[in-house]
Amino acid sequence: MSGRLKGKQIVVTAAGQGIGKATAIAFHKEGAHVTATDLNDKTLAELNKEYPDIKVTKLDSTDNNAILEFTKTLDKVDVLFNAVGFVHHGSILECDEKDWDFSSNVNVKSMYFMCKAILPLMVKQNGGSIINISSCASSFKGFPNRFVYGTTKGAVIGLTKAIAADFVKQNIRCNSIAPGTVYSPSWQDRVNQSPDPVQAKKDFIARQPMGRLGTAEEIAAVAVYLASDDSTFTTGSTIHVDGGISI
Ligand SMILES: NC(=O)c1ccc[n+]([C@@H]2O[C@H](COP(=O)([O-])OP(=O)(O)OC[C@H]3O[C@@H](n4cnc5c(N)ncnc54)[C@H](O)[C@@H]3O)[C@@H](O)[C@H]2O)c1
Repeated sequence: MSGRLKGKQIVVTAAGQGIGKATAIAFHKEGAHVTATDLNDKTLAELNKEYPDIKVTKLDSTDNNAILEFTKTLDKVDVLFNAVGFVHHGSILECDEKDWDFSSNVNVKSMYFMCKAILPLMVKQNGGSIINISSCASSFKGFPNRFVYGTTKGAVIGLTKAIAADFVKQNIRCNSIAPGTVYSPSWQDRVNQSPDPVQAKKDFIARQPMGRLGTAEEIAAVAVYLASDDSTFTTGSTIHVDGGISI
């Protein structure tokens, strides 16, 4: 631990597993006071057992009333890390209106709710850093069978730039991270649920120029940078952490 985030108050969404969990732990190890939120209270309880100093709160990031109630419990937020996201499989022809609405709510509206609730605190304290998780499947690149996922992750980049533009004078930075394929529980589920899991795993790895998946910790390392005062001249950017997929 080098204390790069010493004393910072940080809220993390989707912290029960995967990138959100690894990032909550990385923030904690750098000296931050972390509040980890997720829909799943079981995985949050496991995180809290392992790291009792990480505060955990069950929170559905698509429930605006719950978010507003949660925000009332916070005095100060230096960093908001939005990791919530869901991968729908299919082209536009397999994407029903309910799939469109679900992915839009989980992947984009959740970030609108979280940012809107927490920004007033950042404005009051004249500073803050918001980090939103997008994807390499977004406005940068199209992938087969990622129609609504890519659409919504492109919207995350637009949301990020819009917030960065509106609050740059208030010392509030807003950036996004676009990961390539990263090992996580939901990635493992996607592999297991495919008709041929062995081939599906090979295909995921084959599309990565480095010939391997990323780790959640490799995404967390960039999140620490964006949360820290090392990145005070960086706003509105999207950092690709994708093993070369965007080359
Ligand atoms: N894993 C990858 O390959 C990859 C690649 C690019 C981008 N991403 C993005 O990274 C983020 C994290 O993905 P992951 O694969 O590391 O984790 P994951 O998908 O395994 O876990 C997601 C977590 O989000 C929580 N969650 C789901 N809906 C929620 C809601 N409404 N409110 C609060 N919590 C909710 C789940 O309980 C779970 O703990 C997502 O936004 C995803 O789109 C992942």
